[in-house]
Amino acid sequence: MEFVKVCKKSDIKLGTMNKFEINGKEIVISNLAGKYFAINNKCTHMNGDLSKGKLEGNIVTCPKHGSKFDVTTGKAISGPKIPLLKIKIKDEEKYELKIQGEDILIKL
Ligand code: FES
Repeated sequence: MEFVKVCKKSDIKLGTMNKFEINGKEIVISNLAGKYFAINNKCTHMNGDLSKGKLEGNIVTCPKHGSKFDVTTGKAISGPKIPLLKIKIKDEEKYELKIQGEDILIKL
């Protein structure tokens, strides 16, 4: 496991997130008040693209069926909003980040 450079801090504006592909993994990095967090980008329900979801505070809502995840921990907060079905979903994998000057590095 080693840290590899993903992007520059300026690539992720305050209160937003961006998707990156590193070593075959899709990762979404969020910028919350100048702190950066990385989790797996594909929703654990049916691979929805979380980077295209809505980020409110530290919660991202999947654009496909509305599952919610905490971007700071990867924890699944609620499952998909599908009528009459209550589906439990897995947490997202969380990745460790390191800031080096203007660069964001990720541990893979
Ligand atoms: S794919 Fe994300 S909620 Fe279904």
